[in-house]
Amino acid sequence: MPKAPGGALLHGFSIDRATSTPIYRQLDGALRRSILGGALQPGQKLPSTRELAQELGVSRITVKSVYEQLVSEGYAEAKTGAGTFVSQGLEVENAPKVRRSRRQKEPPNFEISDRSKTIMSSLASVRHGKTEPFRPGVPALDQFPLKIWNKYLSEALIAEGRRHLSYGPANGSAALRRSIARHLADARSMQVDPDQIVITSGAQQAFALISAIMLNRGDTVWYENPGHIAGRDLMQIMGANVVPVPIDNEGMNLEFAASHYPKPAAIFTTPSHQQPLGITMSLVRRLALLNYAKDNDTWIIEDDYDSEFRYRGRPLPALCALDSERRVLYVGTFSKSMFASIRLGYIVVPPALVDSFAKFRTLLGQGSSAVTEQAMANFMEDGRFVEHIRKMRRIYRNRRDVLCECLSRDCSDFVEVEPPDAGMHLLAWLKNDLADQTAQRVLLEAGIESLPLSVYAFDPIERSALVLGFTSVHESRIPKLVSRLCQKLSQLQNT
Ligand SMILES: Cc1ncc(COP(=O)(O)O)c(C=O)c1O
Repeated sequence: MPKAPGGALLHGFSIDRATSTPIYRQLDGALRRSILGGALQPGQKLPSTRELAQELGVSRITVKSVYEQLVSEGYAEAKTGAGTFVSQGLEVENAPKVRRSRRQKEPPNFEISDRSKTIMSSLASVRHGKTEPFRPGVPALDQFPLKIWNKYLSEALIAEGRRHLSYGPANGSAALRRSIARHLADARSMQVDPDQIVITSGAQQAFALISAIMLNRGDTVWYENPGHIAGRDLMQIMGANVVPVPIDNEGMNLEFAASHYPKPAAIFTTPSHQQPLGITMSLVRRLALLNYAKDNDTWIIEDDYDSEFRYRGRPLPALCALDSERRVLYVGTFSKSMFASIRLGYIVVPPALVDSFAKFRTLLGQGSSAVTEQAMANFMEDGRFVEHIRKMRRIYRNRRDVLCECLSRDCSDFVEVEPPDAGMHLLAWLKNDLADQTAQRVLLEAGIESLPLSVYAFDPIERSALVLGFTSVHESRIPKLVSRLCQKLSQLQNT
């Protein structure tokens, strides 16, 4: 309930001095209409008589007597020393109805733009608020060190004479860029100058910047199939000719792409952990990809979205670490390693492109907050980030094991699973010709989230699967949830 300490603004009120209606009546009527119409909520504070009188250019006595009248009729309550408030228990049943504004009609000959139609056809899910178990890509939010993070946020707010309350630098906080460069050297074997890094409001903003800056309308983009949905749809919306490249057991099938499609302006790939199939691109394929990019003047967009979470062996260095030609635009995000609403990510670009990325980020409204950037820089600097990743890795490995065990033991009539070596989700391949989109719908009705593999694909897929996230579900809940999942799939099969 809005209870502004200073009282409501009442900017919609004005006094009409040309009419014969007395000022007292005008003010009284306007306040009653706002209270009855809901613009002023029960419990909401009214402005002080002095302030309102000054703003409206009327005498304070007029405002005072209007308030007293409203109080005497039960519309408002006066609280000594605190002010006048809209009554809490206001009985509005018999009050005259105030017409609420209706949704505006579209103007005649209104036509939805082509771009708007393409946007609406995107299958990228709108994710917000509470998620149900097994939603892919959601970190263990219950384990996030809220109190510690809160301390970093508050410190960033007051640091350096409140400097971070202003707009941040166009390319993002220098401190955060330094921390990221150190992290990339340590975790991804990348030697990056902090000046090559541009902070974004997540990986998705990085893809938007790349699409706008690096791609011309009609340019071909080779894109993993199945692949990351939001990136694919965004590039299509921006006018690129996004074409599907199949995945084999070494990663993107470059030979297929070269023999089927025009030379691309860019190639989109998730080499550390293919989204969604989970394959790690082989070293041979990485070198072939870099060679292709060099020989054909092509950009590679490396989306390294969840590489922090590897459960077996040492991670391969990022593709960008092998790139001596600066053809790779490396994209990282804190959505998985921290939490999605932090809206922080980054892109590593060749030095010559930094200014255009920074400038366009500014034109888009920056996107991330200088306060959060500073808090994240300090969190990394103090070793908290690595500590958090280590802790999450242990938790995620355990949750992955429990989910795989339960699915293999209790649900093997309906699904086939293999424990993934990395990442935050697994693939449950559906047996008996169960369709993944139907299965996903039925499970969702039973409180279980998943994503059908088919929505990641450009065209119909040969084998159905559900993408199940294991990171956000406490291991103690997994056995019961898997029984429910199994029961629902069994019912679906028998219908
Ligand atoms: C493949 C992939 N890349 C990147 C992201 C992260 O996007 P953002 O950083 O905008 O939250 C996701 C999130 O689900 C993803 O699946």
